[in-house]
Amino acid sequence: MNHSFFCCSGSEANEGALLLARLYTGKNEFISLNNSLHGRTYLTMSVTGLPMWRADPMLSDCVTFVPNVYSKEKTLDEAATDSLKAIEDVISSKGADKIAALIAEPIQGNSGIITPPQWYFKKLKTILEKNGILLIIDEVQTGKNY
Ligand SMILES: Cc1ncc(COP(=O)(O)O)c(C=O)c1O
Repeated sequence: MNHSFFCCSGSEANEGALLLARLYTGKNEFISLNNSLHGRTYLTMSVTGLPMWRADPMLSDCVTFVPNVYSKEKTLDEAATDSLKAIEDVISSKGADKIAALIAEPIQGNSGIITPPQWYFKKLKTILEKNGILLIIDEVQTGKNY
């Protein structure tokens, strides 16, 4: 971690992270979570899962969405297990050689403060590392210091 990129908005930060992931891996596609919010530029809106923030009707199809860590019918641990299983399924059906990165908020803010169990991101990172896929953590909202 010896480089920084200063910018003016969360959208710009995420757009930069997605670009870097493509340049670094030479791969094109992304995985994102349902009900996520990542920004209002074309690519960050494309990886945004919250329907009300997907204003452009012709967003990029380079993104596959998976269940986030919340369900009225499931415990938090069950929802987290199902989310990881869905991510593994996407990786095996699309092919790890196509997917540059997964982008996620550590706590989903605009979808209702969805906090995964602590083990979720550790397991997620293991799955992604095994497949050569980067993890982009969007801390635009959680990192705010009022
Ligand atoms: C998690 C998250 N990512 C990205 C953004 C986009 O940030 P900005 O509005 O500064 O472009 C937001 C905005 O609320 C956000 O909550």
